[in-house]
Amino acid sequence: MGQATIPSTEELAAAGLGMAVDGAVVRITIARPERRNAMTGRTWTTLARIGQSLSESVRVVVITGEGATFSSGIDLAMFEPGGVPGEESLFARAVSDPDDTAALDAGIAAYQDGYLWLRRPGIVSIAAVRGHAIGAGFQLALACDIRVLADDAQLCMKEPALGLVPDLTGTKPLVDLVGVNRAIELCLTARTVSAQEAHELRLAERVVPEPQLDAAVADLVEALLATPAEAAAATKALLLQARNNDLPTQARAERTAQIARLRALVAGA
Ligand code: ACO
Repeated sequence: MGQATIPSTEELAAAGLGMAVDGAVVRITIARPERRNAMTGRTWTTLARIGQSLSESVRVVVITGEGATFSSGIDLAMFEPGGVPGEESLFARAVSDPDDTAALDAGIAAYQDGYLWLRRPGIVSIAAVRGHAIGAGFQLALACDIRVLADDAQLCMKEPALGLVPDLTGTKPLVDLVGVNRAIELCLTARTVSAQEAHELRLAERVVPEPQLDAAVADLVEALLATPAEAAAATKALLLQARNNDLPTQARAERTAQIARLRALVAGA
């Protein structure tokens, strides 16, 4: 964190992104409304750079889409021979050098880096979703800690329908949230989930009428910032490991974290 330089406005624009820093809050906008906020490899590597460049003072990251759509997913031009101008698509690489597993693996890993940092304990990431979140867009929402959906939101894991698998870190949160059976059904039918169903499936922490989305997210950000930063980070770290720990291990982790908190509180008193 804080290693890379924040991408310039020009670099963000070339990646189809916007970014605004407001104290402890960073707002990232997927900003290609004329392509329904389709994303390219550059979008994901630039997201990764944003993650690497954030200062320690950032506590909340809000991701949203410009206009009425969150994101239509991967730019379908990435599957065409010409690809996206100025970018080598993975598809083209798979055509030109199909046996270079290491290069393909590194390419996908670089894209995944754009998603992985959103789980970092020191920040809370929020996806504010209106309209469609398809494929890579749905996975971006899944990478966030909290999803606030407008009532017009529509989620779809489209990759299998296109002959692909979801590879932008979405399969684990999807299974964690809805269970493996429902995840199989959603992915292998590539059907669209409404906001109401998303709430029932625990894919949304909140669903609000579309005109109230921004206000609902602002209220959530305010509530998150009211909690002391160190306690918030320590608690998120605990919660993230809870699923994979057995009870004694998690209880020990709670003790360790609490002792650190107590010492910090005593030192600060
Ligand atoms: N990639 C590139 N261009 C796109 C994409 C995309 N993913 N999605 C939309 N566009 C373009 C359209 O081609 C169209 O361009 P045009 O104005 O030059 O004709 C423009 O954006 C508007 O799209 P419409 O389809 O007219 O918009 P509408 O609001 O009716 O529908 C929707 C939006 C539902 C998102 C639809 O565009 C769609 O289904 N897009 C494709 C979604 C998709 O298959 N994504 C890949 C998922 S898999 C993955 O992400 C790995």
